[in-house]
Amino acid sequence: MPRGDAARAVAGARLAGLARGLPDGLTVRMMDLDDSKRLGDFRVRVVATLEDPDHYRMAGEVGDFVADHLGDKGVTAGIFRDGRLVAYGALGLPGPKDPNRGRDLDLPEEELSLVAHMSSAMVDPAERGRGLHHRLIDWRLEVAEALGCRHLVTTVSTRNHRSWGHLAGHGVYPKRMLRVGGDLVRLLVHRDFQSTPVFDTATAGLVAIEALAGRWDVFERGHVWGRVSLGEGNDRRWYALHGRAR
Ligand SMILES: CC(C)(COP(=O)(O)OP(=O)(O)OC[C@H]1O[C@@H](n2cnc3c(N)ncnc32)[C@H](O)[C@@H]1OP(=O)(O)O)[C@@H](O)C(=O)NCCC(=O)NCCS
Repeated sequence: MPRGDAARAVAGARLAGLARGLPDGLTVRMMDLDDSKRLGDFRVRVVATLEDPDHYRMAGEVGDFVADHLGDKGVTAGIFRDGRLVAYGALGLPGPKDPNRGRDLDLPEEELSLVAHMSSAMVDPAERGRGLHHRLIDWRLEVAEALGCRHLVTTVSTRNHRSWGHLAGHGVYPKRMLRVGGDLVRLLVHRDFQSTPVFDTATAGLVAIEALAGRWDVFERGHVWGRVSLGEGNDRRWYALHGRAR
């Protein structure tokens, strides 16, 4: 798989889809190492405002996130308003000597070079609910495929149902539960571009999001496939809908 400038050229050529139909006043471009401070500051600001600190822990990251994703080990798109960064989506492209989440999935050694990491996306609180995350997921899926990657993998907090629910909506499904960075419980989510699983609704079950981190058994009975909510207003509760592939 290409990396560095070659990967950035492939990714940059696919920005048009991301730019099309963006809400008024927003622009998009590839980010590079000159954006290091901008990206670092933005991430610190978003993490400081999380409604639940477990939703994103920098302690769960490996390597130097900013340098890796703006340099040779990844590609990152930034969305800007009046020159200010308001969202980013980063795709990690691990090399042969880099940590590779494909190992946590027990992928065969020869497929590790075909793994990309759906590393992270963050959106400024003032710009949420306008489809930026869904767009950044689509862009990264398109770029990963264009780079010749087969597997997309990342880890997400069980409680960050918005994040993993959005990924599941794009076919990136939780496959396992992992402990990372000490005692953080994370879903290992994965999409294999060579298979399109079909949900066997006869095996469907629901788990309340608050209980998910203790339900390692769910993965023995199939994969989590999406999130659903029941109830209205303050009584609204979120659930993981899980089941087997047919
Ligand atoms: C999680 C996070 C990235 C979501 O970002 P977002 O831009 O608000 O997400 P979106 O706007 O794409 O989607 C939110 C909702 O807006 C709706 N929406 C509104 N306009 C839309 C449009 N034009 N297109 C698509 N969806 C739209 C979607 O239906 C979606 O509903 P759903 O949750 O039922 O799918 C954001 O909350 C965030 O930055 N959180 C903190 C950091 C974090 O947790 N990051 C993820 C882990 S790395």
